[in-house]
Amino acid sequence: MNPAAKKWLRRGGIFLLGLAVVLSAVMGAGLYLAERRMNRKLDIAVRAVPLRELTDTAAIARGQYLYASRGCVDCHGAGGGGRSFIDDPNGMRVAGPHIGAGAGSVTARYQAADWVRAIRHGVDPSGRPLLIMPSEDYNRFTDEDLGALVAYIRSMPPTEGGAAVMKLPVPVRALYGFGMIQDAAAKIDHGVPPPQPVANAVTREHGAYVANMCLGCHGPALAGGRIPGGPPDWPPASRLAPGDGSVMARYPDAESLTRMFRSGRRPDGSAVRVMPFESLGAISDTDIQALHLYLRSLATGIKPVPARG
Ligand code: HEC
Ligand code: HEC
Repeated sequence: MNPAAKKWLRRGGIFLLGLAVVLSAVMGAGLYLAERRMNRKLDIAVRAVPLRELTDTAAIARGQYLYASRGCVDCHGAGGGGRSFIDDPNGMRVAGPHIGAGAGSVTARYQAADWVRAIRHGVDPSGRPLLIMPSEDYNRFTDEDLGALVAYIRSMPPTEGGAAVMKLPVPVRALYGFGMIQDAAAKIDHGVPPPQPVANAVTREHGAYVANMCLGCHGPALAGGRIPGGPPDWPPASRLAPGDGSVMARYPDAESLTRMFRSGRRPDGSAVRVMPFESLGAISDTDIQALHLYLRSLATGIKPVPARG
């Protein structure tokens, strides 16, 4: 090799070494900041929703429906014992904890306010933020629905399970440390009082209420885009709001949206990825029809009902 080439190689080597040192310093700083963010204490004024009697069968039935259709089942399992929901070959592994009855449940010592703090605010009983739990989707539950959901979870027969599994790749943790991925508690406006109930009917108001569970993935304005913190091979969430690239033209009527929710497939037969179809498939016809009315009202440019219910 001629001396000039050697010199360039050496310079290149020094440059790469320098880059590696800088990168690992940035990652190190990110991990340090992530640790601090995860351990920050949030003092939230929680308005307790009184625990229902476990003999309130109407509330328990409503709670069972919400548990099955609003996503809880996807990450905490049908029996409440917890479930793995991200198991990526590139090293990302996340499982929801046991939240039902029986040994190992993280809710074993929960008081009434702890349920509200976790589900509506994304904060655990010690005041630390939950990392993955999408509480921003659940912040707008009415007191009635939240009470019913908790009654159902407390009425579950004892099962086995344990703590959450949280294996997050270093870059994801570093991005969280730098605040480029936010936890639910950081996204929620904790001062907004819970909404008043709207009737379970095919109305835009009720549709807006159901749409709250789509916000964590499809974004606060339903404009779609990359899901923050999701594995790299996940497609971006689709745009449901009007505008360039909106997918709602594919769903001109409530039946087509219902078929997609029940089958996991687009009208052309291709599979829709990432969407939690176990729970979306359990959403009632009334809820999907209301949801469709609400989404279409966005698409035709009527002033949207704020997505809170
Ligand atoms: C996308 C997955 C996912 C969904 C959907 C989900 N959870 Fe969770 N949940 C988690 C994970 C992961 C944790 C562990 C805490 C964290 O995120 O840091 C958790 C924690 C909890 C906790 C315990 C908090 C603590 O540590 O004290 C409760 C209670 C809970 N979830 C209830 C629910 C209910 C009720 C629903 C449905 C309305 C629900 N979750 C939906 C993933 C999920
Ligand atoms: C866990 C995240 C997640 C949740 C929750 C979620 N979605 Fe999606 N959704 C996605 C992703 C990602 C895509 C894009 C899928 C693809 O490209 O294969 C998508 C695609 C769609 C599509 C387009 C399907 C097509 O024809 O291409 C519609 C419509 C939709 N979602 C509606 C909803 C509604 C309504 C809700 C709430 C009831 C919801 N989604 C909840 C992640 C989610």
